[in-house]
Amino acid sequence: MSLLITGGTGYIGSHTVVELQALADDQDIVIVDDLSNSSTKVLDRIKKITGKTVTFIKADICDYDAMNAVFEQHDIDAVIHFAGHKAVGESSEKPLSYYYNNVSGTVILLRVMAEHKVKNLVFSSSATVYGDNVSPLNEKMTTSATNPYGQTKLMIEHILFDLAKSDSDWSIACLRYFNPIGAHNSGLIGENPNGIPNNLLPYVAQVAVGRLAQLQVFGDDYDTVDGTGVRDYIHVVDLAQGHVKALQNLNKISGCKAINLGTGNGTSVLEIVNTFKEISGQDIPYKIVPRRAGDLAAVYANADLANELLGWQATRNLHTMISDTWRWQSENPQGF
Ligand code: NAD
Ligand code: UD1
Repeated sequence: MSLLITGGTGYIGSHTVVELQALADDQDIVIVDDLSNSSTKVLDRIKKITGKTVTFIKADICDYDAMNAVFEQHDIDAVIHFAGHKAVGESSEKPLSYYYNNVSGTVILLRVMAEHKVKNLVFSSSATVYGDNVSPLNEKMTTSATNPYGQTKLMIEHILFDLAKSDSDWSIACLRYFNPIGAHNSGLIGENPNGIPNNLLPYVAQVAVGRLAQLQVFGDDYDTVDGTGVRDYIHVVDLAQGHVKALQNLNKISGCKAINLGTGNGTSVLEIVNTFKEISGQDIPYKIVPRRAGDLAAVYANADLANELLGWQATRNLHTMISDTWRWQSENPQGF
């Protein structure tokens, strides 16, 4: 039996592959990725960490024939679906590209899965589906989205709920991630954004390593501990382990279940900057600029359901998250 990981050479996918390969009963792993936002160098790094190889297939999930061939050639029994575009700003500039790649791509994947009677799925959703609900955010809250990227996650969630309602053989874990940061503690894999990073941690890390001159802090007049935005940062290895737990507990899920993967703790932008400065020993120049459109003051999880249902909770603290980010960034200043 094999496990299919779409988007498995990406940031979260690669860390999840490493955690899956650490299991004693390791399954064969098949990665499908079109390399639109990753590199095959990741595969060598994964092998260095785990000593194991994976099957890699360069393919686009939107390509029905290519996806069908993957299922014809491999005895897949479950899928973890990471593949997708994820840049919020870009999604407003190129909505069709986002709806096509994320939504149509997922529909094609689901169709091929159904045709091959593979009905076990773990899906990468996002806390962005909570819209402007007030934190702590729990899975019973209403969902909404404010940008095309968020809409794609919400649409896919609706598709998954409808699908599971139509056919009780499906078991689907819809994992709503909060803010993944950090890297594997080997320093061999980590986040490698194209161009100027949109997200806080890769931006701060590139300032610390000297690739970028100065961080812009988007607003210091929020109703938070120091006026800057608060988020629930979660170590990418904790997140990866959450996927392993979700996969192992899929049999407990009948239908489709939305589950938060967060720590339940909030950290402000300036707390991140100060901790990064302390750990890296580097200066991190910043200036306060106006709020970024669409940002909320504080976003953090109620993470109880993941604990109850999957027996999972995050264990790595902010110090570990930032130490691991810094190790990855300082040992790989230009990424892979
Ligand atoms: P990533 O860009 O590093 O990984 C995604 C991978 O999917 C990349 O390797 C890319 O090449 C591949 N891909 C994209 N479109 C594809 C297609 N049509 N066919 C095949 N491969 C394709 O992103 P990530 O941070 O690892 O995120 C993984 C998933 O988690 C995404 O769905 C993302 O929306 C979701 N997510 C990420 C975050 C975050 O902050 N990183 C937060 C919430 C949800
Ligand atoms: C952003 C997306 C969200 C997506 C998530 C993960 C927006 C509005 N939201 O969330 O949909 O799911 O990324 O990919 O884009 N910050 C700065 N300076 C920077 C960058 C960020 O001050 O250069 C601040 C932000 O204002 C925020 C915090 O840092 O308070 C975290 O920002 P970011 O890493 O972009 O994540 P989110 O805003 O939570």
